[in-house]
Amino acid sequence: KQLDSQEGPLAGRKILVTAGGTLEYIDPVRFIGNRSSGKMGLAIAKAALMMGANVTLIAGTMSVPVPENSRLQTIRVRTTEEMLEQVDQQFADCDALVMAAAIADFKPQQMADEKIKKHAGENTWTLHLSTTPDILKRMGEKKQSQLVIGFAAETQDLLTNAQHKLASKHADMIVANDVAKAGSGFGVDTNQVTILQPHQEPDAWPLLSKDAVAQRLMRLVVKELSK
Ligand code: CTP
Ligand code: CA
Repeated sequence: KQLDSQEGPLAGRKILVTAGGTLEYIDPVRFIGNRSSGKMGLAIAKAALMMGANVTLIAGTMSVPVPENSRLQTIRVRTTEEMLEQVDQQFADCDALVMAAAIADFKPQQMADEKIKKHAGENTWTLHLSTTPDILKRMGEKKQSQLVIGFAAETQDLLTNAQHKLASKHADMIVANDVAKAGSGFGVDTNQVTILQPHQEPDAWPLLSKDAVAQRLMRLVVKELSK
Protein backbone atom coordinates (compact mmCIF):
# COMPACT_ATOMS: atom_id res chain seq x y z
CA LYS A 1 0.00 0.00 0.00
CA GLN A 2 2.57 2.55 1.13
CA LEU A 3 4.85 1.29 -1.64
CA ASP A 4 2.28 2.46 -4.17
CA SER A 5 2.27 6.04 -2.91
CA GLN A 6 3.35 8.41 -5.66
CA GLU A 7 3.45 11.31 -3.29
CA GLY A 8 6.13 11.96 -0.77
CA PRO A 9 9.34 13.94 -0.44
CA LEU A 10 11.15 11.94 -3.13
CA ALA A 11 8.40 12.11 -5.78
CA GLY A 12 9.95 12.77 -9.20
CA ARG A 13 13.43 11.83 -7.96
CA LYS A 14 15.48 8.91 -9.28
CA ILE A 15 17.34 6.94 -6.65
CA LEU A 16 19.92 4.41 -7.84
CA VAL A 17 20.66 1.62 -5.37
CA THR A 18 23.06 -1.31 -5.58
CA ALA A 19 22.43 -4.36 -3.42
CA GLY A 20 23.76 -7.84 -2.75
CA GLY A 21 27.15 -9.23 -3.60
CA THR A 22 29.12 -9.45 -6.81
CA LEU A 23 30.86 -12.63 -7.83
CA GLU A 24 33.89 -13.37 -9.96
CA TYR A 25 34.32 -16.50 -12.05
CA ILE A 26 37.28 -18.81 -11.60
CA ASP A 27 36.15 -21.21 -14.34
CA PRO A 28 32.75 -22.10 -15.90
CA VAL A 29 31.51 -23.79 -12.71
CA ARG A 30 33.25 -21.89 -9.87
CA PHE A 31 33.28 -18.38 -8.56
CA ILE A 32 34.43 -16.20 -5.65
CA GLY A 33 31.52 -14.63 -3.79
CA ASN A 34 30.65 -13.06 -0.46
CA ARG A 35 28.06 -13.29 2.30
CA SER A 36 25.97 -10.25 1.42
CA SER A 37 22.23 -10.98 1.71
CA GLY A 38 21.07 -7.84 -0.10
CA LYS A 39 18.78 -6.93 2.82
CA MET A 40 20.23 -3.48 3.46
CA GLY A 41 20.11 -2.44 -0.19
CA LEU A 42 16.59 -3.78 -0.59
CA ALA A 43 15.47 -1.91 2.54
CA ILE A 44 16.89 1.30 1.02
CA ALA A 45 15.08 0.69 -2.26
CA LYS A 46 11.80 0.13 -0.37
CA ALA A 47 12.26 3.22 1.79
CA ALA A 48 12.87 5.33 -1.33
CA LEU A 49 9.76 3.87 -3.00
CA MET A 50 7.69 4.67 0.10
CA MET A 51 8.82 8.28 -0.17
CA GLY A 52 7.60 8.42 -3.77
CA ALA A 53 10.90 7.98 -5.65
CA ASN A 54 11.55 6.13 -8.88
CA VAL A 55 14.10 3.50 -7.96
CA THR A 56 16.59 1.59 -10.05
CA LEU A 57 17.94 -1.38 -8.14
CA ILE A 58 21.08 -3.01 -9.47
CA ALA A 59 21.06 -6.35 -7.74
CA GLY A 60 23.95 -8.79 -7.44
CA THR A 61 23.59 -12.07 -5.57
CA MET A 62 20.72 -11.70 -3.11
CA SER A 63 19.24 -14.15 -0.61
CA VAL A 64 16.00 -12.17 -0.31
CA PRO A 65 13.31 -11.80 -3.00
CA VAL A 66 12.85 -8.45 -4.74
CA PRO A 67 9.22 -7.26 -4.91
CA GLU A 68 7.53 -6.00 -8.06
CA ASN A 69 6.61 -2.32 -8.12
CA SER A 70 5.63 0.04 -10.91
CA ARG A 71 8.27 2.57 -9.80
CA LEU A 72 10.99 -0.05 -9.32
CA GLN A 73 13.30 -1.14 -12.11
CA THR A 74 15.46 -4.11 -11.13
CA ILE A 75 18.57 -4.98 -13.11
CA ARG A 76 20.33 -8.25 -12.29
CA VAL A 77 24.09 -8.49 -12.49
CA ARG A 78 26.70 -11.00 -11.39
CA THR A 79 30.24 -9.68 -11.75
CA THR A 80 31.71 -6.36 -10.61
CA GLU A 81 32.32 -5.36 -14.25
CA GLU A 82 28.62 -5.94 -15.02
CA MET A 83 27.62 -3.88 -11.99
CA LEU A 84 29.95 -1.06 -13.05
CA GLU A 85 28.49 -1.07 -16.56
CA GLN A 86 24.90 -0.82 -15.26
CA VAL A 87 25.67 1.81 -12.60
CA ASP A 88 27.51 3.85 -15.19
CA GLN A 89 24.51 3.73 -17.55
CA GLN A 90 22.05 4.73 -14.84
CA PHE A 91 24.16 7.34 -13.05
CA ALA A 92 23.85 10.42 -15.28
CA ASP A 93 20.17 11.11 -14.62
CA CYS A 94 19.90 9.91 -11.00
CA ASP A 95 19.57 12.23 -8.02
CA ALA A 96 21.33 9.94 -5.59
CA LEU A 97 23.41 6.77 -5.79
CA VAL A 98 23.51 4.47 -2.77
CA MET A 99 26.19 1.78 -3.05
CA ALA A 100 24.98 -0.81 -0.57
CA ALA A 101 26.38 -3.72 -2.58
CA ALA A 102 29.23 -5.83 -1.27
CA ILE A 103 31.61 -5.71 -4.19
CA ALA A 104 34.26 -8.39 -4.76
CA ASP A 105 37.58 -6.62 -4.28
CA PHE A 106 39.54 -9.21 -6.25
CA LYS A 107 38.88 -11.36 -9.27
CA PRO A 108 40.86 -14.17 -10.86
CA GLN A 109 43.42 -12.64 -13.23
CA GLN A 110 41.82 -14.71 -15.94
CA MET A 111 38.82 -16.99 -16.03
CA ALA A 112 39.71 -20.50 -17.20
CA ASP A 113 37.74 -21.58 -20.28
CA GLU A 114 37.45 -25.15 -19.01
CA LYS A 115 36.76 -26.53 -15.55
CA ILE A 116 40.04 -26.60 -13.66
CA LYS A 117 41.13 -30.16 -12.82
CA LYS A 118 42.96 -31.30 -9.74
CA HIS A 119 46.08 -33.39 -10.12
CA ALA A 120 47.18 -36.46 -8.19
CA GLY A 121 49.91 -35.66 -5.70
CA GLU A 122 49.34 -31.89 -5.69
CA ASN A 123 47.88 -30.68 -2.40
CA THR A 124 47.97 -26.97 -3.04
CA TRP A 125 46.95 -24.78 -5.92
CA THR A 126 47.51 -21.06 -6.36
CA LEU A 127 44.91 -18.70 -7.79
CA HIS A 128 46.22 -15.32 -8.97
CA LEU A 129 43.93 -12.39 -8.34
CA SER A 130 43.77 -8.82 -9.52
CA THR A 131 41.71 -5.93 -8.14
CA THR A 132 38.28 -5.02 -9.50
CA PRO A 133 37.24 -1.47 -10.51
CA ASP A 134 36.07 0.74 -7.63
CA ILE A 135 32.55 1.69 -8.74
CA LEU A 136 31.87 4.16 -5.92
CA LYS A 137 35.15 5.95 -6.50
CA ARG A 138 34.54 6.23 -10.23
CA MET A 139 31.08 7.70 -9.71
CA GLY A 140 32.42 10.00 -6.97
CA GLU A 141 34.99 11.32 -9.43
CA LYS A 142 32.48 11.97 -12.21
CA LYS A 143 29.47 13.18 -10.20
CA GLN A 144 27.88 16.50 -11.06
CA SER A 145 24.87 17.24 -8.89
CA GLN A 146 24.30 13.63 -7.79
CA LEU A 147 24.49 12.73 -4.14
CA VAL A 148 26.93 9.83 -3.83
CA ILE A 149 26.59 7.57 -0.82
CA GLY A 150 28.73 4.58 0.05
CA PHE A 151 28.93 2.05 2.83
CA ALA A 152 32.02 1.06 4.74
CA ALA A 153 32.25 -2.43 6.14
CA GLU A 154 34.96 -2.55 8.77
CA THR A 155 36.10 -4.95 11.45
CA GLN A 156 38.59 -2.53 13.07
CA ASP A 157 39.32 1.23 13.31
CA LEU A 158 35.81 1.95 12.01
CA LEU A 159 35.88 5.74 11.98
CA THR A 160 39.44 6.16 10.68
CA ASN A 161 38.91 3.71 7.83
CA ALA A 162 35.45 5.05 6.96
CA GLN A 163 36.68 8.66 7.04
CA HIS A 164 39.43 7.68 4.61
CA LYS A 165 36.85 6.10 2.26
CA LEU A 166 34.69 9.26 2.39
CA ALA A 167 37.61 11.36 1.15
CA SER A 168 39.33 8.96 -1.25
CA LYS A 169 36.10 8.03 -3.05
CA HIS A 170 34.79 11.64 -3.20
CA ALA A 171 31.57 10.49 -1.52
CA ASP A 172 29.02 12.84 0.03
CA MET A 173 28.21 10.36 2.73
CA ILE A 174 29.53 7.08 4.14
CA VAL A 175 27.37 4.71 6.14
CA ALA A 176 29.93 2.96 8.30
CA ASN A 177 29.22 -0.32 10.00
CA ASP A 178 31.23 -2.63 12.15
CA VAL A 179 30.54 -5.98 10.51
CA ALA A 180 32.23 -7.90 13.32
CA LYS A 181 29.76 -6.60 15.91
CA ALA A 182 26.74 -8.76 16.78
CA GLY A 183 23.55 -7.30 15.29
CA SER A 184 25.37 -5.51 12.45
CA GLY A 185 26.35 -6.42 8.94
CA PHE A 186 25.91 -9.65 7.04
CA GLY A 187 22.68 -11.59 7.04
CA VAL A 188 21.00 -10.10 10.13
CA ASP A 189 17.93 -7.84 10.10
CA THR A 190 19.48 -5.10 12.26
CA ASN A 191 22.33 -2.67 11.79
CA GLN A 192 24.25 -0.17 13.90
CA VAL A 193 25.74 2.47 11.65
CA THR A 194 27.63 5.73 11.93
CA ILE A 195 27.03 8.41 9.32
CA LEU A 196 30.02 10.35 8.02
CA GLN A 197 29.73 13.49 5.92
CA PRO A 198 32.45 15.95 4.90
CA HIS A 199 33.09 18.67 7.50
CA GLN A 200 30.69 17.11 10.00
CA GLU A 201 31.10 15.16 13.19
CA PRO A 202 30.35 11.41 12.86
CA ASP A 203 26.75 10.65 13.79
CA ALA A 204 26.37 7.25 15.50
CA TRP A 205 22.84 5.89 15.16
CA PRO A 206 21.47 3.35 17.63
CA LEU A 207 20.99 -0.33 16.79
CA LEU A 208 17.96 -0.31 14.47
CA SER A 209 16.24 -2.64 12.06
CA LYS A 210 17.65 -2.39 8.53
CA ASP A 211 14.27 -0.96 7.48
CA ALA A 212 14.57 1.80 10.09
CA VAL A 213 18.18 2.56 9.07
CA ALA A 214 17.00 2.78 5.45
CA GLN A 215 14.14 5.15 6.30
CA ARG A 216 16.38 7.39 8.34
CA LEU A 217 18.96 7.39 5.56
CA MET A 218 16.33 8.37 2.99
CA ARG A 219 15.17 11.22 5.23
CA LEU A 220 18.77 12.42 5.24
CA VAL A 221 18.86 12.13 1.44
CA VAL A 222 15.70 14.28 1.24
CA LYS A 223 17.40 16.88 3.44
CA GLU A 224 20.60 16.88 1.38
CA LEU A 225 18.75 17.04 -1.96
CA SER A 226 16.75 20.05 -0.78
CA LYS A 227 19.95 22.05 -0.08
N1 CTP B 1 32.89 -0.39 -3.55
C1 CTP B 1 32.81 -0.21 -4.92
N2 CTP B 1 33.66 -0.89 -5.76
C2 CTP B 1 34.58 -1.73 -5.25
C3 CTP B 1 34.69 -1.92 -3.85
C4 CTP B 1 33.82 -1.24 -3.02
O1 CTP B 1 31.97 0.55 -5.38
N3 CTP B 1 35.40 -2.39 -6.08
C5 CTP B 1 31.98 0.37 -2.68
C6 CTP B 1 31.08 -0.48 -1.81
O2 CTP B 1 29.84 -0.74 -2.45
C7 CTP B 1 30.88 0.44 -0.59
C8 CTP B 1 32.19 1.20 -0.51
O3 CTP B 1 32.78 1.11 -1.80
O4 CTP B 1 29.84 1.37 -0.79
C9 CTP B 1 33.15 0.70 0.52
O5 CTP B 1 33.30 -0.69 0.38
P1 CTP B 1 34.28 -1.46 1.35
O6 CTP B 1 34.37 -2.89 0.95
O7 CTP B 1 33.94 -1.12 2.77
O8 CTP B 1 35.67 -0.70 1.05
P2 CTP B 1 36.82 -0.91 -0.01
O9 CTP B 1 37.04 0.39 -0.68
O10 CTP B 1 36.55 -2.07 -0.90
O11 CTP B 1 38.08 -1.20 0.90
P3 CTP B 1 38.37 -2.48 1.86
O12 CTP B 1 37.42 -3.59 1.50
O13 CTP B 1 39.79 -2.81 1.55
O14 CTP B 1 38.16 -1.97 3.26
CA1 CA C 1 35.92 -4.12 -0.12
